[in-house]
Amino acid sequence: MKKRRLLAVLTATAMAASLVGCGSGSSGSSSSVANKDKPLCWFNRQPSNSSTGELDTAALNFNKDTYYVGFDANQGAELQGQMVLDYIKANAATIDRNGDGVIGYVLAIGDIGHNDSIARTRGVRSALGTGVDNGGAIVSDPAGTNTDGSSAVVKDSTIEIDGKTFTIRELASQEMKNSAGATWDAATAGNAIGTWSASFGDQIDVVVSNNDGMGMSMFNAWAKEQKVVTFGYDANSDAVAAIAEGYGGTISQHADVQAYLTLRVVRNALDGVDVNTGISVADAAGNKLDEGVDYRYDAASRSFYALNIAVTKDNYTEFTDATKPYSKVANKLDASNSPEKKVWLDIYNASDNFLSATYQPLLQNYDDLLNLKVEYIGGDGQTESNITNRLGNPGEYDAFCINMVKTDNAASYTSILQ
Ligand code: BGC
Repeated sequence: MKKRRLLAVLTATAMAASLVGCGSGSSGSSSSVANKDKPLCWFNRQPSNSSTGELDTAALNFNKDTYYVGFDANQGAELQGQMVLDYIKANAATIDRNGDGVIGYVLAIGDIGHNDSIARTRGVRSALGTGVDNGGAIVSDPAGTNTDGSSAVVKDSTIEIDGKTFTIRELASQEMKNSAGATWDAATAGNAIGTWSASFGDQIDVVVSNNDGMGMSMFNAWAKEQKVVTFGYDANSDAVAAIAEGYGGTISQHADVQAYLTLRVVRNALDGVDVNTGISVADAAGNKLDEGVDYRYDAASRSFYALNIAVTKDNYTEFTDATKPYSKVANKLDASNSPEKKVWLDIYNASDNFLSATYQPLLQNYDDLLNLKVEYIGGDGQTESNITNRLGNPGEYDAFCINMVKTDNAASYTSILQ
């Protein structure tokens, strides 16, 4: 082993002059490329300040082959809010379970410092009219318990449906973070609905969640049996299946497009081809996405954002397998032009429902199609070092795909690659 490494270092040194920056080596790791010049794709958690949301431009511009892949959080959040509102309007006759004239909902918040979570909280409050404006943006703080409508972070709204006026009230909301610090925590959401329903269950007419992991936990723990409609986000397979059993709906953040883009941007850099190959421009195998339909690209933030789709009882049968590669980009690349390369990739929390049940299986389907040998690292969802400790030898990899625990922590990774 030692011998092999020494040989690799010597070969690398000898070849460095001709290979640095070109990115094409034989299969295995191109250790002749400096780590700081290797392709890097941030995904799912956009490098940003978790208090202000301001993007971390240094991390997003780490080198010329650095990108972020996520989805359009605001467009998706608007869709989620609209989906809930449409449901309320269409079911006015039956929705107010205790007939008190107040349509009450509870909201599970994923992570108060995560842009996706913040956008979804705002999207729901904005559509339902319960948001409080603060300098042009809707307050996204958890309301705690608000059964009397006195909270300062949300407000009651009124809606007229079929000639009848209802009040809409956010009865309660909280960040679902467990005692060890894991956010978007499904078990915490299951406990919360238990506490809420025990004290004001008859007032809860709608359950809304920032994601399906927490949404399904609340649905299974209480809402399903009570026939209280529940809305989530992610279109995880179990949530889509639950639509047949009364789950109200979810949003597909087009994880199939995101997982593809996550690996595709590094593939393109490793092949030394234009970043849009197989993305907005068809590759030799016929893979191509539709810009504006499947995703949008923002050059300033070097970010690809997949576009969202609402999944409800009207269309859910098209979304039952969340782990299937997207048909537009499911063709295998020719290994002579795109030889095998090694990628280090981490999932910040191995027990996050969306990432482990939807995103990673998709990545595992695409890695074969793109001839990438990916090492998957699963984090504990709480500490960055639990993951960075396993990036001890970056020289062994050709590219990196990174999902951070906290969006502020990009430097914990880039410092290792410097
Ligand atoms: C997903 C959540 C997930 C989070 C992890 C979000 O985009 O919707 O389900 O927990 O990413 O960072």
